[in-house]
Amino acid sequence: MASITGIGSYLPNKILTNYDLEKMVDTTDEWIIQRTGIRERRIVENGMITSDLATEASLRAMEDAGVTAEELDMIISSTITPDHIFPSTSCYIQQKLGATRASAFDILAACAGFIYAMSIGQSFVNSGAMKTVLIVGAECLSKITDYTDRATCVLFGDGAGAAIIQKSRTKHEILSTNLAADGIQADVLIMPGGGAKNPASLESVQQRMHYIQFKGKEVFKLAINNITNMILETVEKNGLRLKDIDLIIPHQSNLRIIEATMEKLGLPMEKAFVNIDKYGNTSSASIPIAIDEARKEGLLHKGNIVMLVAFGGGLTWGSSIIRW
Ligand code: UT7
Repeated sequence: MASITGIGSYLPNKILTNYDLEKMVDTTDEWIIQRTGIRERRIVENGMITSDLATEASLRAMEDAGVTAEELDMIISSTITPDHIFPSTSCYIQQKLGATRASAFDILAACAGFIYAMSIGQSFVNSGAMKTVLIVGAECLSKITDYTDRATCVLFGDGAGAAIIQKSRTKHEILSTNLAADGIQADVLIMPGGGAKNPASLESVQQRMHYIQFKGKEVFKLAINNITNMILETVEKNGLRLKDIDLIIPHQSNLRIIEATMEKLGLPMEKAFVNIDKYGNTSSASIPIAIDEARKEGLLHKGNIVMLVAFGGGLTWGSSIIRW
């Protein structure tokens, strides 16, 4: 059975606090904490880019799994902030790791990207076509964040997390992955500039199209409903009950989204892992960073049923159940 045999994460050292943001836009530490739960986030510096963050996280996951670069069969990277639109960031990760045998490609499923990557990796490993797959979620969201827009700039941060997927009898078994999308809502969370529709131009820059834009309230409601329903569906599909879940590791986009979801499910907040206060929303890096931290904090014990769940632009969402 496809299992997670190694996990690793990497966060840049530079911290951007709410107090720093108070000096940049008309906001307050109090508003940000109350409305989002975020206290600080990490920001890349010194020319560091997405493939660098991804490579650091990958090296840690590979060390954790006891896997060398030559053993990697495939690299799947998930990001909305690729080094370039093409070639893929995965090819740069392959280059930086020296993983010469690995095939490499990116997927784009925004905040749900790590779960999408996990689903693809799991399928390749379970089918026997691949033995060792590296999946990595990495983001430099600071590069597409509009630091003049108080409604969005308080939310996002940079970081990366990675996992190795292999068959294993003793490690953390991926019991299921579930994916969903709703393209009707594609425009509620978007970076409109830089693609075929609005290629870079003076106008696209003047209209601030190369930054994340969203309809916050709509995304907020859709997130709670879709995450709640997906958790219930996933539990049922796997013949489990809600009370069988030992820990939910949700995508960290807003503490109030996590709290409302737990309330709807009738589960106590102690069953949800939260680290949004330290890193903000790191899109596809959020779930693997959270898994790594939950493990380091001693929250994951052998045999635990762990639910991963993420929601984001596309709209896309997904879940996975891991037997730790
Ligand atoms: O991973 C999926 C992606 N996640 C998301 O896209 C996040 C989803 N949405 C959210 O998390 C929340 O909608 C936000 C945190 C973005 C906004 O929270 P809200 O409770 O929905 O606030 P709001 O947009 O309704 O704004 C309330 C007030 C407004 O002022 P008025 O019109 O009531 O006078 C805003 O102008 O708060 C104001 N406001 C701010 N005030 C201080 C908006 N941003 C800020 C700010 N500081 N940073």
